[in-house]
Amino acid sequence: MIHSAKPRIVIYGVGLFGTMTAQLVRARGWPIVAAYNRAGDKVGKDLGVLAGEEPWGICVEDSDQANFSGLEADVAIMATTDRLAQNMTGYARMLGAGLNVICHGSEAYFARGIDMSLHDEIDAMAKANGVSFLGTGVWDYSRIWSGILVAGPCQNIERLFHKSITNIGESKYTDVVGIGFTQEKFAETIGKVPGPIGGIYKTIPQHVLYGLGYTIKDVTEKREPVLYEHPVWCAALDKNIEPGISAGTRIVVNVTTDEGVTASAHIELRVFEAGEEDNMLWQVIGNPSSDLRTVRRDSGTASAACMVNRVRDIIAAPPGINLVCELGPIKTTALEPTP
Ligand SMILES: NC(=O)c1ccc[n+]([C@@H]2O[C@H](COP(=O)([O-])OP(=O)(O)OC[C@H]3O[C@@H](n4cnc5c(N)ncnc54)[C@H](OP(=O)(O)O)[C@@H]3O)[C@@H](O)[C@H]2O)c1
Repeated sequence: MIHSAKPRIVIYGVGLFGTMTAQLVRARGWPIVAAYNRAGDKVGKDLGVLAGEEPWGICVEDSDQANFSGLEADVAIMATTDRLAQNMTGYARMLGAGLNVICHGSEAYFARGIDMSLHDEIDAMAKANGVSFLGTGVWDYSRIWSGILVAGPCQNIERLFHKSITNIGESKYTDVVGIGFTQEKFAETIGKVPGPIGGIYKTIPQHVLYGLGYTIKDVTEKREPVLYEHPVWCAALDKNIEPGISAGTRIVVNVTTDEGVTASAHIELRVFEAGEEDNMLWQVIGNPSSDLRTVRRDSGTASAACMVNRVRDIIAAPPGINLVCELGPIKTTALEPTP
C-alpha cells in the first residue's frame, strides 16, 4: 500500500543516529517539526548543519527547558542512550505530549526482559496518552525477524542458536569490549560489571522465543574474553593482540522456556582476522532444521532506516508498548513517493 499522509516527526537526541534518521526522514519528504537534545554544544544549532548539510531551519532545543505542550507531531524518534532507566524522562515527555515513540536504545526492543516495572511504567504512560511505544533499529530484521523467520517452517523445535561476529578492532570502542585487556583485567571489569554492553544482548534470544509464542522461564548471560592462539592485528590500537590477551568480548546467553525449547546466543564483538565479515546467524534445530545468515553491508544506515520504516507501523499500532515481533516483518518504503 502507498500512503499519502506525511507523518510529522520529532527527533529527540541529535547525535549520530538522530541526525542520520533525520536525513532519511527528510529524504522521504516527511516534516521534522522539532528537535531536542540535552544541554551542550548541539543546542541552538541547526539540525541540518549537525547532519553535515545546509541549514534546514530547525533549531535544536534544550530538552530540559523546552515546552512540549502543543507539539503537533505524530512520532518522536529517540536516539539518546541504550538504557531504559536513563531514557524515562524523555519517554514521559514525548508520550505525555501525545506522540508515539520509536526508541533506538537497545533495551527498548524488549523492555519486559530488562525491567518489568519500567516496562509497566512505559506501557501505562503510553496507554494513558493513547499512543504507542516501539524499540527498533538494526536488530529488527537482522537479529529478531531473521530468528522468527527461520523457525517458520518448523513442525517441531528442539532449540535455537544465534551467533554473530562484529568487527570492533577498527572502531573507537576497543575498551568497551576489552580489546588488549589481560584475562584478569577482563574478569574484573567487563566480566563482572555490566558497563555499556552488559545485559542488553540477552534480550535477542528472549525476544525471538517470545515472538514464537514461548514463555520465558530462565535467562543467563556471561561475558568472556575472546582469545586467539596466534597474534591478531588490531588497527584501532595499532598493535598485535598476543595469544592469551583479550581480542574482544563473547556474550554467551542461554534461555529456557516453560515448553522446554531453548535458545542460546554467542555474540562476539572483537578484532577480526583477514577475510572475516560482520554477520549474524540463526539456526533452528528441529523438524525441519534451517540456517539463516544475515550480512549487513551498512549497519548504520540500516539502523536509522529501520526506525523510519517502522513509523507507519507505530502510528497504526494499538496504544502501549509494541514489539517488532508483534508488528510483522519490517517492510520497505521504497515505493513511497519522495519529493
Ligand atoms: N537499536 C539498535 O539496534 C542500535 C544500534 C546502534 C546503536 N544503538 C544505540 O543508539 C543510541 C544512540 O546512538 P548514537 O551513536 O546516535 O549516540 P550519540 O551520537 O552519542 O547520540 C546521542 C545523543 O543523545 C543526546 N542525549 C544523551 N542523553 C540524553 C538525554 N537524557 N536527553 C536528551 N539528549 C540526550 C546526546 O547528547 P550530547 O552528545 O550532546 O551529550 C547525543 O546528542 C545509543 O544508545 C546506541 O548504543 C542502538
